[in-house]
Amino acid sequence: MAKAAIMGYGTVGSGVYDIIKMNAARLEAAAGEKIELKYILDIRDFDDHPEKHLFTKDVKDIINDGEVSVVAEVMGGLHPAYEFTKELLSAGKSVVTSNKELVATYGSELLKIAEENNVNYMFEASVGGGIPIIRPLNRCLAANNITRIAGILNGTTNYILYQMITNDKSFDTALRDAQANGYAERNPAADIEGHDACRKIAILSSLAWGKEVDYSSISTEGIVDITLEDVRYAAAADAVIKLIGYAERLDNGKVYAHVAPMMIKHDCMLSDIDDVYNGILVRGDAVGDVMFYGAGAGKLPTASAVVADMIDSVIHKERRALIGWEKTDEDVCAAADDKKFRYFMRTQDTAENVRSVFGGAEILKSLADNETAFITEELTASEAAEKSAALSGVITSIRVFD
Ligand code: HSE
Repeated sequence: MAKAAIMGYGTVGSGVYDIIKMNAARLEAAAGEKIELKYILDIRDFDDHPEKHLFTKDVKDIINDGEVSVVAEVMGGLHPAYEFTKELLSAGKSVVTSNKELVATYGSELLKIAEENNVNYMFEASVGGGIPIIRPLNRCLAANNITRIAGILNGTTNYILYQMITNDKSFDTALRDAQANGYAERNPAADIEGHDACRKIAILSSLAWGKEVDYSSISTEGIVDITLEDVRYAAAADAVIKLIGYAERLDNGKVYAHVAPMMIKHDCMLSDIDDVYNGILVRGDAVGDVMFYGAGAGKLPTASAVVADMIDSVIHKERRALIGWEKTDEDVCAAADDKKFRYFMRTQDTAENVRSVFGGAEILKSLADNETAFITEELTASEAAEKSAALSGVITSIRVFD
C-alpha cells in the first residue's frame, strides 16, 4: 500500500481527494497497490469534512512520516510550495504538482533534487489541466525532433474571448463568470496578462528541447487590449483572435517563444478551441502536426492529471520516471527579430499611406469610419514597430498565425 498526502485543499486539492475516493479500485489496479490518503495539509479548518482527522496544518507531519511516499502539491504560488517541495523530495518522497509557476521557476532545481534522492517530481497537470501533454511530448513523441509548439494554454482567457466573440459579453462580465466557475487564478492578472500561459509555454519548450527556457525571457502580452472591434475584424477575415503560447526551434538551434493574442484563420485547428478548453498543436519532424485538446482548467480535469502522476510515482517507486530538462549556461532563447510574422493592424491613417509604408499589405474592408485595417507581409517585430511608427494612430497590432 502507498500512503499519500495532499498539500492544499482548494479547487484542485479537493478534486484530488474526490478522485482518490471515487476511483479507489481503478487507482489500485493502475498503480499495482492501494493508494491511501494519510494527510491533507491546509491552513484552514475543515471541521465538517467527513475525514477531518486527515487534516493537518503542519507540513512536518508529512515530511517526517516515513510511510508517506507520494505527495500532491496543489497549493499554487511559489512560497511556501517551493520550500515544502524541496524538503519533501529531500526526505525521499515523490512530489506531483499542478503548480506551473513553481515548475517554470524552480523546475530545474527541483528535478535535480528529485534525481539526487531517486524520487519523482512530476507535473502533468501544470500545463493543459486534464489534457495529457507532458508525458506524450516526453515519451510518445520521443522519436521526433519537435519543431514547433503552439497552444491555447489558458482557459480563462479563451473563455473570455469566446464570450466576447459569441455572446457579445463585456470583458469584465466574462472574467467574473470565469472566476465564478473556478477557472481563473486567484489573481486574474496572471491569466489576462498572459503570465500563466507564459509559464506553460516555458515548461513545454524546456521539455521539448531539453534545456531550461527561462520564462522571464519570453515576450508576453495578454488580452486586456483586445476589443470587440478587433474580434469583429477577425470574424470578417474568416478568423478568430486567441491567446497563443508559441515556441519554435529555429534553424540557428535557438528557441523563439512568445505569448500574445494572434489572429487565426478558421482552417487551423486552433481556431476551433472554444470556451474554457485548451488546445495544443505540436509539430514533429516525423509525425507532422498533432493536436491535444481538452479541459485545461477546473477541479476534476486538473485533478485527473495530478492523480495520474501519483499513480505513475507509485509505479516508479524503485526506478525514477525520467521527465525533465537540464539547466545550462548557454543562451537558449532566440532574439525577437529572429522570427517573422504577418501582422493584422488597424490605423486611423489612410489606405494610401498604409500602402506607401507597408508595400504589399492586404487592405481589409473597413468596419468603421476613418480607419484602415490591413494585414502586412511577413515582418520582424522591429520592422513592424518601425513601420507602424510611420503611420498616424495605430489602434491595433496583432500577429497572424500561419
Ligand atoms: N487559470 C488557469 C487557466 C488555470 O485559466 O487556464 C489552469 O492552469
